[in-house]
Amino acid sequence: MAFLEAHNLHKTYRLTRSNHVRAMRGVDVTVEAGEMVGIMGPSGCGKSTLMHILGLLHAPDLDAAPPPSLAIDGLDVTTLTDRKRTQMRAERMGFVFQAFNLVSTLTTVENVALPAEYAGRRRRDALAAALEALRLVGLEDWAEHRPMELSGGQQQRAAIARALVTQPDLLLADEPTGNLDSENTAEVMALLHWFNRERGQTIVLVTHDTRVSEACSRVLTMQDGVIINGRQTEVA
Ligand SMILES: Nc1ncnc2c1ncn2[C@@H]1O[C@H](COP(=O)(O)OP(=O)(O)OP(=O)(O)O)[C@@H](O)[C@H]1O
Ligand SMILES: [Mg+2]
Repeated sequence: MAFLEAHNLHKTYRLTRSNHVRAMRGVDVTVEAGEMVGIMGPSGCGKSTLMHILGLLHAPDLDAAPPPSLAIDGLDVTTLTDRKRTQMRAERMGFVFQAFNLVSTLTTVENVALPAEYAGRRRRDALAAALEALRLVGLEDWAEHRPMELSGGQQQRAAIARALVTQPDLLLADEPTGNLDSENTAEVMALLHWFNRERGQTIVLVTHDTRVSEACSRVLTMQDGVIINGRQTEVA
């Protein structure tokens, strides 16, 4: 059984009664546990929309025919209540975005602890898990600093620690290296690789950067709201 299996995902954004954007037009995607899958494609083709749906942040069009299906670890998530969906997101998924989205008024370790607190951990335990996550990304000395004192690369490493502090099964990353120079891109990719290999975390990431997609075990290409092909890569 695949870890993530989605069929017939459509997403229509209705701007006005007569004006709508069909951002996804029937996406099927299957991801096996432990894969690191890259998604590429031109701006506006629907990559972020797909990530939001896989991350249970948005629902696909439910009136599509045939109806959409989305199963994660064998569980049909299209019929979950909002509460269960939120719980699944908090306990089993981590998110990394192009903008690091750290809370400027909190210290780095407090930022990293947030998802663990949302997932129900006691504050003390969440902070301990956050320190351990910061150690894994090489930022333990920056725990008490505020995000604005960190470089862009360090902020993204902190965001990765935050995404992985709950040890989620699935990491969704939308252009995680989009704001980074090549040196920091390489560091972030090395970290993601490590979590994928050593922790067995399944990763789906969107990128415009072929150096990033080459590090993935498989690359899907999107165009005009559909996936047009998949490429299997040999990763050493
Ligand atoms: N909230 C929204 N409301 C209306 N239209 C939207 C919304 N979000 C995205 N769109 C439209 O849906 C289409 C797909 O957008 P999406 O953000 O998924 O593209 P993308 O592939 O991630 O692009 P990029 O590479 O620039 O990030 C675009 O035409 C976009 O304008
Ligand atoms: Mg996008």
